[in-house]
Amino acid sequence: MSEIFRELTVDLGERSYPIIIGSGLLGSTDLSPYVVGSQVMIVTNDTVAPLYLDKIRSSFPGKKVDTVVLPDGEKFKDWQTLNRIFDALLEQRHSRKTTLVALGGGVIGDMAGFAAACYQRGVPFIQVPTTLLSQVDSSVGGKTGINHPLGKNMIGAFHQPQVVLIDTDTLQTLPSREVSAGLAEVIKYGLIRDVTFLDWLESHMDALVGLEAGSLAEAIYRSCACKADVVALDEREGGLRAILNLGHTFGHAIETFAGYGTWLHGEAVGTGMIMAADLSAREGMISREDYRRITDLILRAGLPERPPEKMTPQDFMRLMAVDKKNVDGALRLVLLREVGDAFVTADTDSGNLAETLGAFCH
Ligand code: NAD
Ligand code: GLY
Repeated sequence: MSEIFRELTVDLGERSYPIIIGSGLLGSTDLSPYVVGSQVMIVTNDTVAPLYLDKIRSSFPGKKVDTVVLPDGEKFKDWQTLNRIFDALLEQRHSRKTTLVALGGGVIGDMAGFAAACYQRGVPFIQVPTTLLSQVDSSVGGKTGINHPLGKNMIGAFHQPQVVLIDTDTLQTLPSREVSAGLAEVIKYGLIRDVTFLDWLESHMDALVGLEAGSLAEAIYRSCACKADVVALDEREGGLRAILNLGHTFGHAIETFAGYGTWLHGEAVGTGMIMAADLSAREGMISREDYRRITDLILRAGLPERPPEKMTPQDFMRLMAVDKKNVDGALRLVLLREVGDAFVTADTDSGNLAETLGAFCH
């Protein structure tokens, strides 16, 4: 195995698992200790397979390794494509002792994880995330699922992986738009819980956008540490974990409005965080100076400032009404009490919300 840069644990009792972060890990890490039986099914897509499938196949010495290659894209995060994983498992006669391996970004991770949660009432799986967004967010914490035409990630399950293997070298082949999308979630951790990380991000944003390896590894480590901490405190999102959704209520509305895959998830979250910061300022919690600080950092990451041109306040209200955080029809939003301290509230002033939506819709 190559030298491990760093390792973290997601502390969940008997369901605890390591996050291994480093350069040169793909192809040099023996993952067979994380496989219970003798069968492995690698789930990937037709973009990632030519880049990394051969490398990961060699990580399971002594195991029978099969693969299923799905079409690439958020629009394929659906029942029909999910069923192709079940087809492959059944056709290759995978038993309850099989282990699924998600090789790809968040779409593959969420779908492979959900397939693992359902197949024969649940089998283990391994996350090998290859986008920045999946390395800092979706591969950690056990949220899995698919989209429904009426709402994003509406069908799913909590199912924790056996291990998360993050090879930072995979980011070198990632399109710059996807790097920016991942940086949205990185910035999120600074905003919700770690203002010293936010300071660090302000001085390293140019290096991160330029894919400087050391800075990326540090940002991934600090992001995973923050997420692991929150997940360990509130695995099933009884309360605290919802702060990980800063910007996501506005963001999911944008993604659904634009059509899955048109706006990247991270891009929508970036704009959503700017809108959440604006609303936090209107609610009198953060200053306008804080708002500008947040907006500047998000824009430096290469993310959009405003929602799609044709989106109206009414579109936002209609789409936000199906957010998973809502309880008994009441809209719940994540706002900033101060920079580095997020909370969930159902008590947003409707006038302030209308002003934010009015200010951001064209
Ligand atoms: P993605 O999975 O669509 O990947 C983005 C693109 O990059 C795809 O075209 C993919 O094929 C390609 N790609 C992946 N790795 C590559 C590499 N190393 N080099 C070149 N191209 C590569 O998108 P994403 O941003 O990784 O994930 C978004 C998804 O994650 C959304 O569906 C979102 O809902 C979900 N998500 C889930 C959680 C969670 O907690 N489960 C959290 C955040 C986001
Ligand atoms: N990405 C939000 C969560 O994992 O809870």
